[in-house]
Amino acid sequence: MTTVKVYDVPGEWANRAFLNDDTYQAMYHRSVTDPNGFWGEQARRIDWFKPFTKVKNTSYDPHNVSIKWFEDGTTNVAHNCIDRHLATRGDQVAIIWEGDDPKDDRKITYKELHAEVSRFANVLKARGVKKGDRVTIYLPMIPEAAVAMLACARIGAVHSVVFGGFSPDSLAGRIEDAKSSVVITADEGLRGGRKVPLKANADAAATRAGGVDTIVVVRRTNAAVPMQAGRDVYYDEIAKTVSADCPCEEMGAEDPLFILYTSGSTGRPKGVLHTTGGYLVYTSITHQYVFDYHDGDIYWCTADVGWVTGHSYIVYGPLANGATTLMFEGVPNYPSNSRFWEVIDKHKVNIFYTAPTAIRALMQAGDAPVKKTSRESLRLLGSVGEPINPEAWEWYHRVVGDDRCPIVDTWWQTETGGILITPLPGATKLKPGSATRPFFGVVPQIVDPAGNPIEGPCEGSLCIADSWPGQMRTVYGDHERFVQTYFSTYVGRYFTGDGCRRDEDGYYWITGRVDDVINVAGHRLGTAEVESALVAHPKVSEAAVVGYPHDIKGQGIYAYVTLMSGQQPSEELRAELVAWVRKEIGPIASPDVIQFAPGLPKTRSGKIMRRILRKIAENEFGNLGDTSTLADPTVVDDLVNNRQASQ
Ligand code: WT7
Repeated sequence: MTTVKVYDVPGEWANRAFLNDDTYQAMYHRSVTDPNGFWGEQARRIDWFKPFTKVKNTSYDPHNVSIKWFEDGTTNVAHNCIDRHLATRGDQVAIIWEGDDPKDDRKITYKELHAEVSRFANVLKARGVKKGDRVTIYLPMIPEAAVAMLACARIGAVHSVVFGGFSPDSLAGRIEDAKSSVVITADEGLRGGRKVPLKANADAAATRAGGVDTIVVVRRTNAAVPMQAGRDVYYDEIAKTVSADCPCEEMGAEDPLFILYTSGSTGRPKGVLHTTGGYLVYTSITHQYVFDYHDGDIYWCTADVGWVTGHSYIVYGPLANGATTLMFEGVPNYPSNSRFWEVIDKHKVNIFYTAPTAIRALMQAGDAPVKKTSRESLRLLGSVGEPINPEAWEWYHRVVGDDRCPIVDTWWQTETGGILITPLPGATKLKPGSATRPFFGVVPQIVDPAGNPIEGPCEGSLCIADSWPGQMRTVYGDHERFVQTYFSTYVGRYFTGDGCRRDEDGYYWITGRVDDVINVAGHRLGTAEVESALVAHPKVSEAAVVGYPHDIKGQGIYAYVTLMSGQQPSEELRAELVAWVRKEIGPIASPDVIQFAPGLPKTRSGKIMRRILRKIAENEFGNLGDTSTLADPTVVDDLVNNRQASQ
């Protein structure tokens, strides 16, 4: 067995951090033995209009899954993220915006944010948006994305942010599912020097989805885009016609705050629904303790607001804590591979939170682009989105952090709302590749295939035994799917979909998804979604998609495709199918490898044996397991003989 290197808490951290190991242990113990007491106290970190009298009211019984926190309290998220800070930090910078072009930046104080959000809220009201209405946000990484989210929260509208990299079809599906009649977009996006036709995509999506009566267009590049009279309005023009004064709507703790679509192992993406009080308390407490955020710190999370990381750790958690949060429009390698580190030096960033795929890509570019920058402001590094391999962890620690900065490897999901398993920088000894220990209120359980929790060091499926305030409440419009997906495999527990190992120190090591979800460069995709895009092509008869190990992306997409009779495999068709999937779903879903296969391995009942397809994609031919139950075992020989080299 290889010995795992352990990194102690640096002395400087033991002194400055909010929590050390003793306080972590004591608070953790209290949080799981007395959740009502613990969370009742912690919930006071936000302002309540009407105080709650009940704290936890949750049930994982599959006949009655119901999750409520602080249910009789009322509050407003925008009030907590903005208004309540005005008296003490109105002139403090809330958002530092760094544009795609290094010459473009902006600083927005809490006072300015208040005015902007109120104005945007009045624009939405002027277009008829009311409490409970769904508003779709399809914007690039510009301050208006955060402003639009907070404007929805201010008036009690439910936002559904759709990542700007998604295709018109994907956007249309989300607009339709949410029954959203208002879409907020930009003329164009700008990333890595390239333009993204957001308004054109939104137009196509609105036509497909129907029911869209307003498109608010924020000007980003000033490109001339068609504007449909009566439906489309430029934000800057309509903003001039409304006031910058808009009171906060009083919201119940369990009123919806947002929907965010995410991929599962089957079917269309699910609308994960998060609510108001518990979500804000949970993102606030995790942002404070995991990142050890102190007043005056400059904090940067590189995620896109189109993903949950952007919601919880660019916008809601940091702003609830009165932080200065940096929002970056660009990409890690534009104009050069030094960009991240230059931004850190330019804005004196103290806390930096990014994804393993970015770290691996930059690691490949060598140490020089990092070493030419100072990074002396950095104190803490974070990782999120997929397992970080120990080599990338070590490089991040040694080269980026100059051996000085702890790394918090934070495990969580769209569904969990906030971080569940993570080191705390002043409390936790680190092991590269391990997300370490549970956060307050989180009881991880590793279960065997029969669903029995296993004690001590072990490996199995990761479940969570009981609810925490940031947990999703339902699948929008489909509570039954919520129950089926998360509470039926292992009755009485929340099933994460991840595999996990627990070591002799009680540390957790996430081993990756155990369902048909793949994680490509930190982006979550259902293999079924890519398959259904492929079979929608007129020349494709059948498709099976699996993940395979990819040096930079973590997992790549490997697609086995059977053509309609009469169609011949060719390089042109391969390229055509890749382009087709990009168009159907978006660039993040482009297959890395397409293998044409005359037949797929199926059981006699017609079920595709993905286990075999995974092994072939992973190049593990010696280990295909029992193929004798296949309807036609010879298809496997063809698949092995024609395996495509992966890039
Ligand atoms: C899946 C959730 C959490 C926000 C971004 C992704 C994987 C996430 C880690 C980590 C190992 C991780 C899991 C999880 N994952 N963080 N630190 N170590 N795996 O959110 O798109 O909902 O994806 O990402 O497989 O289930 P998401």
